[in-house]
Amino acid sequence: MSNISETILIVDYGSQYTQLIARRIRELEVFCLVYPFNKITKKLLNELKPSAFILSGGPKSVLDKNSPKLNQDILKFKKPILAICYGMQLVTINLKGKVKRSTHREYGHTVINIKKNSLIFNDINKKKFKVWMSHGDNINQIPKLFSITSLSNNKIISSIENSKNKIYCLQFHPEVYHTDFGSKIIHNFIFNIVKVKYKFKIHKFIENKVLELKKIIKDKKIICGLSGGVDSTVTAYLLNKAVNKNLYCIFVDHGLLRKNEASEVSKIFSKKFGRNFIKIDASKIFLKNLNNISDPEKKRKIIGNLFVKIFEKEAKKFKNVKFLAQGTLYPDIIESRSFTGSKTSKIKSHHNVGGLPKKMKFKLVEPLKEFFKDEVRQLGDSIGLIKNISRKHPFPGPGLAIRILGSITEEKVKILQEADHIFIQELINKKLYDKIWQAYAALLPIKTVGVMGDSRTYEYTCMLRAVISQDGMTADYFYFPKEFLDNISNKIINRVAGINRVVYDITSKPPSTIELE
Ligand code: XMP
Repeated sequence: MSNISETILIVDYGSQYTQLIARRIRELEVFCLVYPFNKITKKLLNELKPSAFILSGGPKSVLDKNSPKLNQDILKFKKPILAICYGMQLVTINLKGKVKRSTHREYGHTVINIKKNSLIFNDINKKKFKVWMSHGDNINQIPKLFSITSLSNNKIISSIENSKNKIYCLQFHPEVYHTDFGSKIIHNFIFNIVKVKYKFKIHKFIENKVLELKKIIKDKKIICGLSGGVDSTVTAYLLNKAVNKNLYCIFVDHGLLRKNEASEVSKIFSKKFGRNFIKIDASKIFLKNLNNISDPEKKRKIIGNLFVKIFEKEAKKFKNVKFLAQGTLYPDIIESRSFTGSKTSKIKSHHNVGGLPKKMKFKLVEPLKEFFKDEVRQLGDSIGLIKNISRKHPFPGPGLAIRILGSITEEKVKILQEADHIFIQELINKKLYDKIWQAYAALLPIKTVGVMGDSRTYEYTCMLRAVISQDGMTADYFYFPKEFLDNISNKIINRVAGINRVVYDITSKPPSTIELE
């Protein structure tokens, strides 16, 4: 990434909105990276040479002894700073202003009143507007050389700045959709204050990345876990451009794929990579290891560990394999990370991150780890990926294992593959597939009584899920017309032995997640 000339560095203090800051900036076609506050070092700053910093919000109080601190190198770097919420309070206390605990917590919508013309509010042309607040502490005394640019209706200081040193602080969250003119405020910071000139075009990334991969891998060999999904396929295509025959793509059929997927993937990639594409049929061993396992995290860990073991075994067959490539994306990393180290803030171990064993024989190469899914699809289009792959719905590494709730058997896998196939085909036929971010069928661990013909049945319940989303971080359920639901329910029950009830999940993320486990 070092050869991307203008990088905005987002310093993460643990806010639930940090990723939204990144998204808003990427939407402006400007490159940015998110680093946790405790990973910021002088060396890193000298390497990344950020054009500006954005300090995120965070759940702690700057008045607490053990709260995250501001690395002084950030101030010494003398680049523009946009400090949001917790970030604003950090800047304030570090520059000898004062923060006080407040009895009046502001949460949700608040109106702010502009008190002074500011570049950050350029072109807004309103003296008051709605913003999204989420804070307890307030600024009591602003640092020297700063001025107040807005106050909230509750008379709380909502923005301050030192325009000479280009430090802009906001108590509210411009990255959140509910803040009026939020995108405009970020736009003003990026283009009027930082004055970014270089637009980050995704296809330009390809040349840079290929060069970078060449430098890392040199004449060593690399294996890539290829599942046929868009992420691992784009990863493999990039690596193929970089190291050609030194790339070995290993496709592990864990027996928990969608119907026909294993044969389709094999067909496409043996054509593209020839003898460097290796298919391993490991379905028996995966099923054996998952026997009687119901706990979702255990399933994920078992699958992650087995994957790596299989890679290691395969790699021994080639000389000089030093690297393992994975199609890890940004949201995988963010959701697998535990910011505070506490268990509660970790949502799921995504197998291509959290489930990997600590000791591995390979160095990990993850060329897409700074990207969101929609950006990877754009990359795929630029590389010339076939549309069937670049538009494919996401599919989790652990596959159907986390869509068969409770214990997994071969019979349940077959039932689910059939139901899922019927659902997906129907979406394609009705031209709904491309409108949906992700759709799948799941098998619930309950049997219910039904009646078919004149007979009583006692069979499984199939749950359908279809969501719209931009990057999988948040999602809404897809609204199907009643006729579609009637039709699909009938089709599944009539054609799949073992299912006598179909339900549709109507929860969004949050509070639910897209997958069930
Ligand atoms: P959740 O269920 O966390 O899913 O809302 C968000 C997105 O991530 C996918 N997902 C995974 N992908 N390995 C993956 O490669 C995993 O273990 C995994 N778990 C969830 C999920 O399908 C959705 O697109």
